Amino acid sequence: MLAPKILVMAGSLRAASYNARLAALAAKELALAEADVSRISLADYPLPLLDADYLAEAGPPRQAVALKHMVAAHQGVFITSPEYSASVTPLLKNAIDWISRVREGNEPAYAAFKGRVFAIGSASSAAAGGMRSLMALRQILELGCGALVIPEQINVGRADQAFDDMDNLKDESLAEALKAVARRLVELASVMPRAWREG
Ligand SMILES: Cc1cc2nc3c(=O)[nH]c(=O)nc-3n(C[C@H](O)[C@H](O)[C@H](O)COP(=O)(O)O)c2cc1C
Repeated sequence: MLAPKILVMAGSLRAASYNARLAALAAKELALAEADVSRISLADYPLPLLDADYLAEAGPPRQAVALKHMVAAHQGVFITSPEYSASVTPLLKNAIDWISRVREGNEPAYAAFKGRVFAIGSASSAAAGGMRSLMALRQILELGCGALVIPEQINVGRADQAFDDMDNLKDESLAEALKAVARRLVELASVMPRAWREG
């Protein structure tokens, strides 16, 4: 069987982002689970704040189309997001909103979110981690975009102390939890029927 293609992205552009570190570690675990992994930065897809009037007049910008194509080219997607005011970052929400508005040919709405599997993670220096960000992201993807999000997720609390010098998770049970999320994502992405993806 061909290795499933999995896309990894973080919802933070901060230079020392914990969520970018978590995304890098997830990419490593996904590769160990035999996925064909691509990791992107949302910095390479600069998007204006979505304004429905602008969308109606000009259509989605080319970066939104490119980002949608990037998601659509994969069978699985792993997203990490910081918690901002008990939700996801505006960067990530705006990117998801733009992807959801790109509609080509006769494809159904939210085409990029259908027929592929999503996994989510969050890291925060708060003791509780980014649990509320995870809840919000799950709601956005499942209820907003009709995506399938696996129940396993990774939540890293006290992120300022959670990584060692090699950027691995110090806590063994957390490291195991990340491996389990990666394995499950690869497992489900591998059996995702092409017909469902193409709607
Ligand atoms: C506008 C703003 C709101 C935030 N709100 C929360 C919050 O609700 N809960 C939380 O745990 N951390 C909150 N934080 C702290 C971020 O989670 C923390 O800065 C984290 O390191 C950001 O993720 P990053 O390291 O991947 O950039 C907030 C930070 C900002 C800038």
